[in-house]
Amino acid sequence: MYNQIFENIIQKRRSVRIYDTNAPFDESVVKRALDRAVLSPNSSNMQLWEFYWVKSKETKEALEMACMGQSAAKTANQLVVFVTRQDKWKERVQWNLANLNKQFAGKELTKKDKRALEYYQKLMPLVYRNDPFGLNTILRNIIVFFMGFNKPFLRISNHADQRVMCHKSCALAAQTFMLSLAAEGYDTCPMEGFDSNLVKKILKLPAAAEINMIVACGIGTPEGIYSERLRVPNEEVIFEV
Ligand SMILES: Cc1cc2nc3c(=O)[nH]c(=O)nc-3n(C[C@H](O)[C@H](O)[C@H](O)COP(=O)(O)O)c2cc1C
Repeated sequence: MYNQIFENIIQKRRSVRIYDTNAPFDESVVKRALDRAVLSPNSSNMQLWEFYWVKSKETKEALEMACMGQSAAKTANQLVVFVTRQDKWKERVQWNLANLNKQFAGKELTKKDKRALEYYQKLMPLVYRNDPFGLNTILRNIIVFFMGFNKPFLRISNHADQRVMCHKSCALAAQTFMLSLAAEGYDTCPMEGFDSNLVKKILKLPAAAEINMIVACGIGTPEGIYSERLRVPNEEVIFEV
C-alpha cells in the first residue's frame, strides 16, 4: 500500500521553475514539511542545520536577486533556505548529553550507557573542534594515520570533511521537505545557483554558517517543468557487488 503512495510522491517531485503565484497557497503545507524535515536522519543527531522560512516580501525579493534572478526563485510562492551550522557543535553536544543524562538518571550506568556518554564527551569534540592554527586538524591527521593504519577508522580530519558531514545531513532534510510538499500536491525546486555571501548577509548569518540550498515552493505551472525527466542508464550508477 505505502509502496504505491511513495512511488507517486517520487514521480510527482520534479524541479519546477515556474510557479502560479495566483494559485491558492496553503502555508500549513510548508509548516508540516518543515516539521517533517527536522525528523530527517542526521549525523550523530547533532542537527547542525537551520531552516529559514522566508515570510517577508523584502527578504524574498533580496533572495531572488541573490539567486541571480532564477525564475524558480522569482516566481516561487515561498522560499526556504537550508543552512548548515557547524559552529553549533558544542551546543548540540550539551543537548545530547543532557538527554542522555535524563535517560540515565537514577540508574547504574551500563557499558553501553558509558559508551554513549563518551561518544558526545570525547568523540564529537575530536571530530568537530577547530582552532585558528589548524592544530586540531594536525592532531586528527595523526590519530587517523595511526589508528587507521591497519584497521578501519573514521577518516575525518580537516574542515572539508566536517563541512561534507554537515551538508550531507542538511541535504537529507531538504529532500524530506521537498517530498513532503510533493505528497501534498505542491512543487519545489532545489537551488544551489546563488551568491552564498549575499544570502548569508540577507539572513544575517554568522561567517561559520553555510548555505546548503534554497528551495523554491509553490504550485507549479506545466511550463515550469523544462524537460522530460532523464537519467543515465541504471547500469551506469547502480552496481550489485
Ligand atoms: C543540490 C542541487 C542544486 C540545484 N540547483 C539548481 C538551481 O540552482 N537551479 C535550478 O533550476 N535547478 C537546480 N537543481 C535542480 C536540478 O537541476 C534537478 O534536480 C535535476 O535536473 C533533475 O531533475 P528533477 O529534479 O526534475 O528530477 C538543483 C538540484 C540539486 C539537488
